[in-house]
Amino acid sequence: MQLAQRLEQLGTETAFAVSQAANDWAARGNRVYPFHLGDIDLPTPGNIVEAMNAAIADGKTGYCPAAGIPLLRDALADDIGRGRGMDLSGANIVVQPGGKPVITKFIQTLMNPGDGVLYPNPGYPIYESQIDYYGGRPLPYRYHETPSGFAIDLEQLRELAPQARLLVYNNLQNPLGCESTPEEMAEIARIATQHDLMVLSDEAYFEMRYSGTSTSIASLPGMAERTVILYTFSKKFAMTGWRLGCAVAPVPVAEQIAKINTNDESCTTHFVQAAGVEALRDPSGAAPLLVELERRRDAAIAGLAAVPGVSCATPEATFYLFPNVTVAVDQLGFDSVSEFATEALRHTGVSFCTRHHFGTARPDEGERYIRLAYSGISVDAIEEGLSKLAAWVGSA
Ligand SMILES: Cc1ncc(COP(=O)(O)O)c(C=O)c1O
Repeated sequence: MQLAQRLEQLGTETAFAVSQAANDWAARGNRVYPFHLGDIDLPTPGNIVEAMNAAIADGKTGYCPAAGIPLLRDALADDIGRGRGMDLSGANIVVQPGGKPVITKFIQTLMNPGDGVLYPNPGYPIYESQIDYYGGRPLPYRYHETPSGFAIDLEQLRELAPQARLLVYNNLQNPLGCESTPEEMAEIARIATQHDLMVLSDEAYFEMRYSGTSTSIASLPGMAERTVILYTFSKKFAMTGWRLGCAVAPVPVAEQIAKINTNDESCTTHFVQAAGVEALRDPSGAAPLLVELERRRDAAIAGLAAVPGVSCATPEATFYLFPNVTVAVDQLGFDSVSEFATEALRHTGVSFCTRHHFGTARPDEGERYIRLAYSGISVDAIEEGLSKLAAWVGSA
């Protein structure tokens, strides 16, 4: 069989290999502490489930408009506009089966082969995969570790910007858990306007925060007309498997994204969209989710603090931690952070991703990092797992 050559350019989420290793270890009768999963083990709020069942009973099981049902597009325009201080209408909204499709549709709509695309590295791996697949020129930008988390290397971004036509920006960042200061975001907006860049603002975690408020770069002066927002129900309402999200875009871009929808999936499942309308009408079920995630964050931060040679800031958003494990890896005598991860699973059952699952690392990166997700693991398991990790690292 001869497969299409372009598939050689398509990446994937290599973190799935970590799941496989954890499952294999568990299948051999071992206890696993799953910090590798970006999924949520909490139920979708009941009113959303009931709305979906009612929609099915009501016969909302056929095709519907490619851009989404008007009721949901209007509700999203209202909700997203209010949350971000933007004036949006249903015409700006194109419903998608999840947030992830917005990445490929942004690239397909706005990038020509050879165009430079700035994107975060470490970052969500699908950016790099889609840029490569559609023949773009990858321009990864890096982050510095700071006492309170991570900050974008603005100097590098300014240097690369003249080669770029597009910019991917993920504030409330996976895997780093960090967020821009107002100054950093303003500078990114300034770079985007100065170099006339189209921007993908990945706001998958916009509402996933424990204090403070989120700001969208699209709401800064001159940005609405050059920005596509990735919005998703996945995290906010614990709806990862439902596949519901949308692109928020200037109308001419939204129209083209809707055309791609027609070609790709025809429409997003009608009864799932009806449930989305209910989620926005009564979002109260989302609040307990954040309370539980904050408990887990606090448990994970406390647990990590007891692991020798590991340091980690306390993020106020997302459900990810990105601890620096350089000293621990050295103390244990490992050559790489991947070896550290493999041996940690074997000795303690603690399973996590490493920096290498989030874009190609530069050869000159000296520090070693791992990523812990606490969305799929209970407080008790967090405490138990991290105390085993602390004992193992401490024994070195
Ligand atoms: C930064 C980021 N963007 C997009 C997505 C995709 O979200 P969805 O599950 O809604 O497709 C994720 C999922 O983990 C993510 O972390």
